[in-house]
Amino acid sequence: MKLILLGAPGAGKGTQAKRISQHYDIPHISTGDIFRANIKAGTELGKKAQEYMERGALVPDALTVDMLLDRISQDDCTSGYILDGFPRTIPQAERLTEALAAMGEDIDAALDIEVPDEVIVERMAGRRVCPDCGSSYHVVNIPPKKEGICDVCGAQLITRRDDAPETVLSRLATYHDQTEPLIEYYQGRDKLITVDGTTGLDPVFEEIIEKLG
Ligand code: AP5
Ligand code: MG
Repeated sequence: MKLILLGAPGAGKGTQAKRISQHYDIPHISTGDIFRANIKAGTELGKKAQEYMERGALVPDALTVDMLLDRISQDDCTSGYILDGFPRTIPQAERLTEALAAMGEDIDAALDIEVPDEVIVERMAGRRVCPDCGSSYHVVNIPPKKEGICDVCGAQLITRRDDAPETVLSRLATYHDQTEPLIEYYQGRDKLITVDGTTGLDPVFEEIIEKLG
């Protein structure tokens, strides 16, 4: 099972990818998480990526595509994977299609989680994440059992730096400009599945599983 998750920043890609990954027993690969791990570790890649991420821009394809293709060539990806946040530009999608075609493979589906911009802004303002295990919460919609503490691993929750309101607006603009055209790209390749991302955690997951069949 090779899946792609499309959707605006804050649409719930990370939240649903975790569940899909457990359901199908495939790795969850988030380019955003890989960049954040590199920033935390102070690597050269992290330093370069941080500059773009903090202003809500995309990290250049030259830094992103080879990193992702290398990741999906690893042993744990032989029975599939779920890509969260990649591809994000038409050139990234074309490189992925070509790389898979060279091995006689293709993705099974691209899931687009649809959420209007107004809802996104409210979600990002309330998001809190775990810096250790990556779990994501929302102060109102999905609060942790104990305020400010991760249910899964007990770490202190933080606010992502790129969730500052002005950065969220740039990320949304970047999404509409550079990533939204992928919906048409995957529709043209007969891979697109659209899901309503506003219905709540469980209903969104159920709709995804039902539509994947
Ligand atoms: P990335 O980390 O991928 O961020 P993003 O796409 O902006 O998306 P988010 O992680 O913010 O949101 P999400 O859709 O995962 O939502 P979540 O589940 O957390 O990328 C960060 C940056 O890295 C980019 O800006 C770019 O610079 C760079 N980058 C990454 N990949 C790249 C690439 N391929 N090319 C170039 N640059 C790249 O949910 C959001 C909130 O809503 C949470 O609080 C959650 O609890 C809540 N929530 C989720 N679902 C629901 C629901 N159904 N109902 C109510 N609340 C919900
Ligand atoms: Mg995410």
